[in-house]
Amino acid sequence: CGIVGYVGDRLSQDILLGGLGRLEYRGYDSAGIAVVDPEGQLHHRKRAGKLQVLRDDLIETPLPDGNVGIGHTRWATHGAPTDANAHPHLADDGKLAVVHNGIIENFTALRNELLADGVTLLSETDTEVAAHLLGREFRKVGNLEAAFRNVVTRLDGAFSLVAVHQDQPDVIVAARLNSPLVIGIGEGENFLGSDVAAFVEHTQKAIAVGQAQMVVVRKESVEITTFDGQPAEGEAFDVDWDAAAADKGGWSSFMAKEIAEDPQAVEDTIRGRISNGTVRLPDLEALSDEYFRDIDRILLIACGTAYYSGLTGAYALEQWTRVPVTVELAHEFRYREPVISDRTLVVSLSQSGETMDTLLAVRFARESGAKTISICNTQGATIPRESDSVVYTYAGPEVAVASTKAFVAQIAAIYLLGLHIAKVRQTLTDEEIRVETTEFQTIPDKLRETLTHHESIKELAGWMADTRSVLFLGRHTGYPIALEGALKLKEIAYIHAEGFAAGELKHGPIALIEPGQPVFVMVPSPRHDNGLHAKIVSNIEEIRARGAHVLSVAEGGDASVLPYSEAVFATPPTSVFFEPFLKVVPLQIFALELSTAKGLDVDQPRNLAKSVTVE
Ligand code: G6P
Repeated sequence: CGIVGYVGDRLSQDILLGGLGRLEYRGYDSAGIAVVDPEGQLHHRKRAGKLQVLRDDLIETPLPDGNVGIGHTRWATHGAPTDANAHPHLADDGKLAVVHNGIIENFTALRNELLADGVTLLSETDTEVAAHLLGREFRKVGNLEAAFRNVVTRLDGAFSLVAVHQDQPDVIVAARLNSPLVIGIGEGENFLGSDVAAFVEHTQKAIAVGQAQMVVVRKESVEITTFDGQPAEGEAFDVDWDAAAADKGGWSSFMAKEIAEDPQAVEDTIRGRISNGTVRLPDLEALSDEYFRDIDRILLIACGTAYYSGLTGAYALEQWTRVPVTVELAHEFRYREPVISDRTLVVSLSQSGETMDTLLAVRFARESGAKTISICNTQGATIPRESDSVVYTYAGPEVAVASTKAFVAQIAAIYLLGLHIAKVRQTLTDEEIRVETTEFQTIPDKLRETLTHHESIKELAGWMADTRSVLFLGRHTGYPIALEGALKLKEIAYIHAEGFAAGELKHGPIALIEPGQPVFVMVPSPRHDNGLHAKIVSNIEEIRARGAHVLSVAEGGDASVLPYSEAVFATPPTSVFFEPFLKVVPLQIFALELSTAKGLDVDQPRNLAKSVTVE
């Protein structure tokens, strides 16, 4: 869910709606705002559906405006996406409004307590419970800050809770536990957000509120304390995105724009970190060379697309560092009893840095004695702040739910880390590092070249708009790319798609092949001496013999696949570990264009949120 708040001299509705527009990627099944007008009256409006439904409603029946307000865009957890379940939620006297991100885990007990007291609940949400508790407490103590302090300690689980009260029309009070909250510092005005996207068009100065902290925000002041009232400090930082970077800028969708930014994402991620044939990662200074020499295992943890970037990066990471690497889904890792020691390095991958499953896995790893490195695209996000060290990816803001440029940037960051560790452990010679870094630097241009095939992929996607199932095959690093290609298609084109290791084909999946079945095949370069090209060609022949329609992603000039393929998408030649950067691009474009051909909302696919901040 996304949260925005404003207090200042301007009218708040436009600012709140603008912020919600930028936060919609966090959820878009309902949205709402609450404002306090200059007469000290609270007004609110909330609607199920995308933000546009709320905007239209406000145009049709305007709401009085005021200088203080809060807003919310929701991804349903407790209760279906309905008007009633949308935020803000009001206390029963109608004077206090609350927006919330997270899950209050003891909400059933609290709800029963309220029901026993005769309170009528209008929604099925855990948030409304917090609104009533705060409203009742305000009536007792007469002050929003004091009311907050008494209520937050009663809530378990995860929350960023933000409230306004009409009797204190100059203040917003908020608290966070296990859920992000950031303050935007303006001049004579201040902002609140679940992340900086909420206010980046107004200010680049931000303070991240710490874990179990509360904040009282007025137009001229920001006061942070612990839950029990001790003065505390948040973490001040400057936002390095400008608002324009989060705009569509003439593209048909954010996803189209972001795929086109794949080259830039890799270029910006390696800039300054590769020079003179070697790699430099000052980011990692918190972890000594001695530490890296001593590790005996690397674990990559992530969810969704970030998990596939981990699977992809693991091949080179293990090869270069000679440290055993495993890749695990964060939520699976967290809930078993993995063997972890102080020689285990846990690397999390997260575009947003807020994915709750990943965050909890990082915390768990630290508690178990491991050191943690965060590979993250969002400065000041929770996961990097809670990790021992961070290697930022510089993909810029990624807005489309389906991750594209962040994926390639994540692989780039894993490679930088791998080369750093290999250098320290001397598992690669200086010459070998020079060869890898030299090739690495050619990748942005090779990505640009790959993107020039957009039109032919679009044409194919257009023909295939009625396809009901697509399979993806790959070997080695082509295997996770096949998984990622299938995920993209599920996410935004709602097509049944699966990725397989091509070697596994004859152990099961080949039973799925029937005449006309489209199969994308990641074909490694015939120039590589790992023998995989010939193996893939055999796999292609096997499925062709059973009527599959083969769509090959192969190195330009590789004639061996032509006789067996309905279509071939050419990628520029590169070395083994750099192929996945290029191979994924046609798959990203294919998903984008198939979704478009089906008339679907590319950027905001049904049921998904970009950043899942609940477990
Ligand atoms: C959600 C999104 C995916 C994303 C995953 C991990 O499931 O829908 O697109 O890959 O979260 O997000 P993160 O921000 O941790 O990379």
